[in-house]
Formats: sequence, C-alpha cells, structure tokens
Amino acid sequence: MKTKKRKAPLIPKTVTSLRKARAITSSFHKLTSKAEEAKARGDVKGLKAARTELEALGGRQAYQEASIVTTSRSRHTSKWVFSKLTSLGMRPARGKQPLELLEVGAVNTQLLSVPWLAVRAIDLKSCHPRIEEKNFFDLRPEYNYGAVVCSMVINCVPSPEARGRMLKLLHQHVCPGGLVFLTLPLRCLTHSKNITWEQFAKVIESVGFVIESSKASPKVAFFCLQKPKTGEEARRPPPSARGPPEGILCGKGPARATSTFGVTLRDEAELPATHGR
Ligand SMILES: C[S@@+](CC[C@H](N)C(=O)[O-])C[C@H]1O[C@@H](n2cnc3c(N)ncnc32)[C@H](O)[C@@H]1O
Repeated sequence: MKTKKRKAPLIPKTVTSLRKARAITSSFHKLTSKAEEAKARGDVKGLKAARTELEALGGRQAYQEASIVTTSRSRHTSKWVFSKLTSLGMRPARGKQPLELLEVGAVNTQLLSVPWLAVRAIDLKSCHPRIEEKNFFDLRPEYNYGAVVCSMVINCVPSPEARGRMLKLLHQHVCPGGLVFLTLPLRCLTHSKNITWEQFAKVIESVGFVIESSKASPKVAFFCLQKPKTGEEARRPPPSARGPPEGILCGKGPARATSTFGVTLRDEAELPATHGR
C-alpha cells in the first residue's frame, strides 16, 4: 500500500495571528532601516541598539515566519503573474518546454506548483525544501529567465543603493523580451520623502526596462517590466503605465512623508563588493 507523503509545513506554529504577524514584519522593516541609517552615519552605538532590538524581535527567523502568515491568505501576485503571462502569449502550450522563472523572496509554493513553469525559488531564509536558501545578490545573472518575480522584496532591501543594484541585476537575469514582475507596498511610492511613483518609474526605465503595465491595489503597487528584445524596441516610447494609476496621490509633502523608501542607481564600480548583503 502506498503511504501518503506528508506535506512540508509552510505555516509555522509560532506566529498564528495575522495582527501579530503584521506587527512583526512592520517592526522588522523599521529596525532594519534604523540599523542601515545608523551604519551610514557611522553611529556604532545606534547600530548596536538597532541590532539588539532586532534580535529581541526574533531576527530574520521571526520575520520569515510572520511573512508566511501575512502573505499566505493572498494570491494577488500569483494570479496577476499567470494572467499577464497568458495575455502576453508567454504561457507555453501544452507539451512545450515550461517557462523558466526565477522567484526572488519566495515564502510559498504557489508558483512552484504550476506545471507550465520551471521555477527556481530562492529566499534569504528558506521555509520549504523546494525553496533554496540563497541571497539574490549572490546569484550570477545569466540573462536566461523568461520571467522573474520579485514581489514585496525590494522594500526589504536595506539601502537605496542596494535597491538600485537589485533593479540592475533583475534586468541582467531576464532574457530579451523577458518580464520582471515587481511589487512593493504602495506607501513606498505615495508616502516617501525620497521618491514618487513617477521618479520610481524613471529609475526603472533608466535601468533599461519598458514598463509594460502597472496598477495599484489599496496597499500594493504592481509593475510588469519588460526587457526590450532589440535596440529598436528600447527606443519605443514607454506606454502610459509610467504614471500612477488614477486616484493614487503621490507626494513628498511633509504630511504624507512617513516612509524613507528610495532607490539610487550607482555605477557598479562605486559599490563595495558586499553591497546588498
Ligand atoms: C515580505 S516577504 C514577501 C514574500 C513573497 N514574495 C510575497 O510577495 O508574498 C519578503 C521576502 O523576501 C526575502 N528577501 C529579502 N531580501 C532578499 C534577498 N536579498 N535575497 C533573497 N530573498 C530576500 C525575505 O527573506 C522575505 O522572505
């Protein structure tokens, strides 16, 4: 008689309430920014204090467990990815080679379980045997993926320079014509004192992407980015997807500026080899 394989648990028992999980992820982001700012100022005491607080919170392990809880109830990203790949004609026909896809910051197996996708899923802290424990910044780009999904990860990257480097690396992971699905909390673009939606769109374009489309839910900004196939296409005027969707107010005014999210593009030569770690 066949014994039924037991599924590896995705949701650990320690964080079960959504409210608690949200509080943990939010504190983790605040403390990592605090540590990064202290580091940039050369404030050793401040850095130590932020790290102590992070440890008390439970560190990356607690953050990871909380992320699983906060993201497990929503399939927004996977649904959007499937529908985009299908509408853009990138879903392989039955019996054809699956589409190579890299998932950065994977905390569930929603994409891994799709038969027409060949997914390599990575995360700083793996919570499933099929998710590789790997830092995105340690992957060598090979211009080979048909699609890369980087959902709610860029906002976890600690500095504007490392976020800029992440965008450049994403561009190097996809093949010409390939897509990058990027999402981030909407407030990073509507409530930041450092960047607006339009400025973020310009950064994306200066990396070499065309914004195929973008949209916003009440909490999340979605960008579908395409790497142009040829130099000719690269010169094509970008579609109207550059601006914020109707009804989304962006501003750097003091009343709205409660986020410090920003992205800076630097020459690789100017960055230390460990940047983004
Ligand atoms: C907020 S969760 C988002 C999870 C999932 N992608 C989603 O949209 O629901 C962010 C994830 O990104 C991972 N992460 C952050 N920086 C990373 C890096 N440099 N390399 C790989 N994973 C990273 C974190 O460990 C965390 O699991």
